[in-house]
Amino acid sequence: MFQTEYDTVNYEVCSIISRYRGLDGGIELEYTAKSITSMEKRMTDTDRKEFIRRGFDLVAQGYDHPSLYFMPETARRMVNHLELQPQQNLLDVCTGTGVVALAAAEKLTQGKVTGIDLSSGMLQQAENKSREKGYDNTQFIQMDMDHLAFAEESFDIATSSFGLFFLEDMTRGLKNIARMVKPGGKVAISSFKADAFSPMVQLFMRCYESFGHELPPLSWQRLSNSELLESQFSAADLKVSSIHHEPLGYTMTNSQMWWDVVWNAGWRSLISLLSEEEQREFKKVHMKEVSELIGEEGVWFNTEVLIAIGEK
Ligand SMILES: C[S@@+](CC[C@H](N)C(=O)[O-])C[C@H]1O[C@@H](n2cnc3c(N)ncnc32)[C@H](O)[C@@H]1O
Repeated sequence: MFQTEYDTVNYEVCSIISRYRGLDGGIELEYTAKSITSMEKRMTDTDRKEFIRRGFDLVAQGYDHPSLYFMPETARRMVNHLELQPQQNLLDVCTGTGVVALAAAEKLTQGKVTGIDLSSGMLQQAENKSREKGYDNTQFIQMDMDHLAFAEESFDIATSSFGLFFLEDMTRGLKNIARMVKPGGKVAISSFKADAFSPMVQLFMRCYESFGHELPPLSWQRLSNSELLESQFSAADLKVSSIHHEPLGYTMTNSQMWWDVVWNAGWRSLISLLSEEEQREFKKVHMKEVSELIGEEGVWFNTEVLIAIGEK
């Protein structure tokens, strides 16, 4: 089922200067973000997707680590907000390890859940979990969200938790997702708020850059407030019925807690671009800075989320 062929690509290193200013909560993050690849300009869409696919294949085994509890917690809350009916059919786009799909499958006892993702590694985890739970109403398929191969209007609900912002053209992506849903059906999208991953992310970026490597802009910032979500929904002809702010996060009491986030999520792709020696040195320097920040008291690690629900 996951046998799609992808071309091997060479990643070209280029430089893009980006600036982020005035994030909510008074934190000012201003840094020179130079793209690790031509993600922003020179890389083709296929290359970008291949980079993403490989990155998630790399972290698939550790993705359900407790340090990333905010992913399944967002999924649980999204499914609750959707008020599912047992006979409905749901499409989960960018399903990853299936956190939304499986939370929904528990409720859709007479319906069916279809999860799609680029990464066969992530899909395998989803399928394993579904099997362990004994669900017979799920299917997981390797597919690009830009090329959804389903009949139009064949689902009651479509979801995409922390997925849409991976697309260069989010509007086209959301339109494609909306096309899969019947008139009157629902579409749910989640993203992180602007301050998410603070205060660790600022240290990570400065340290990474101090090693002479370049960083891509933070993709979720393109969907990090209600207005940005609303404008995407309206461009896709979806009526926003609610936007939920979920103030998730936890106190980090040691630097390993942050490293667990880095190692088990998308940040790992950036680490993997460093040589082995650089990886060791980066970890040493960065962990020292994080330990100093955490101190004796611990530090609140912000993973605030927005969940938008729209109607077709
Ligand atoms: C941050 S993870 C989120 C996974 C899951 N929805 C969750 O909430 O934990 C993003 C997922 O989107 C997938 N993805 C990114 N771009 C995609 C695309 N164009 N088509 C399908 N899946 C994609 C990645 O492979 C990854 O599994």
